Amino acid sequence: MSHKTMSRRKFLTLAGAGLGAGMLTCCGLGWMLTSQEPLETSLPIGFPDIALGAVESKKKILVAYASANGSTGGIAETIGKAFNEQGVAVDVRPVNSVIDLSGYNAVVIGSAINGGKWLPEATEFVNINQEKLCQLPVAYFLVGMMAASNSESNRELVANFLEAERTLVEPAAEGRFTGALFVNRLSFFEKLGMSFFLTYCGLGIQGGDYRDVEAVRAWSAEVFPLLIN
Ligand SMILES: Cc1cc2nc3c(=O)[nH]c(=O)nc-3n(C[C@H](O)[C@H](O)[C@H](O)COP(=O)(O)O)c2cc1C
Repeated sequence: MSHKTMSRRKFLTLAGAGLGAGMLTCCGLGWMLTSQEPLETSLPIGFPDIALGAVESKKKILVAYASANGSTGGIAETIGKAFNEQGVAVDVRPVNSVIDLSGYNAVVIGSAINGGKWLPEATEFVNINQEKLCQLPVAYFLVGMMAASNSESNRELVANFLEAERTLVEPAAEGRFTGALFVNRLSFFEKLGMSFFLTYCGLGIQGGDYRDVEAVRAWSAEVFPLLIN
């Protein structure tokens, strides 16, 4: 009798483990099968370090950004080009290559979100330049997958991502943009974790490029008069 009970337990344990392993494998395989690299987008991917000149105006804006895989770089470039179309000169540069803020009339700082925060070099940039930034019009933007979710609790969470930076320098405006996840650059277990994360964000389990060029351009138009007048 006791032998029979043990066998049943063993069977249930094995069946549970088998089912769990099967589900994980299917989920992982499902992720790999459905992931794309990247979806169609009209936004660039890269790490721009460019100067966009303007003859009409002597005013100049710095768009400084931090990006691990290039989607934030593309958003920074799009913001820079939109400002430049308004007749001001714009430098679009990675935060690490900005040494001096003199000569700029306004500064926009943006970063990819990793683990609920800006990348460390972006926060460091605000920290190091706090005194100068406090004397200029400043806008922040973040790029993260959680910006895709519209639930109240998620919006609150995303709104708190820049709490530390706000304390250092109060921005005139903040932009929150959905980013891109290049799944082929992730390990198997990272893909698995990200599939749950993307589901939580309401994006299903498909990686790819979710950046919205219209949202970036609309924000740029909205924020421009707050930076330059
Ligand atoms: C390891 C890792 C952690 C991430 N953590 C978050 C997060 O906490 N919240 C979020 O909204 N997005 C998160 N993301 C998504 C990235 O912010 C998004 O993919 C962004 O577009 C990446 O920008 P980049 O291509 O400029 O590096 C994470 C991505 C990775 C790879």
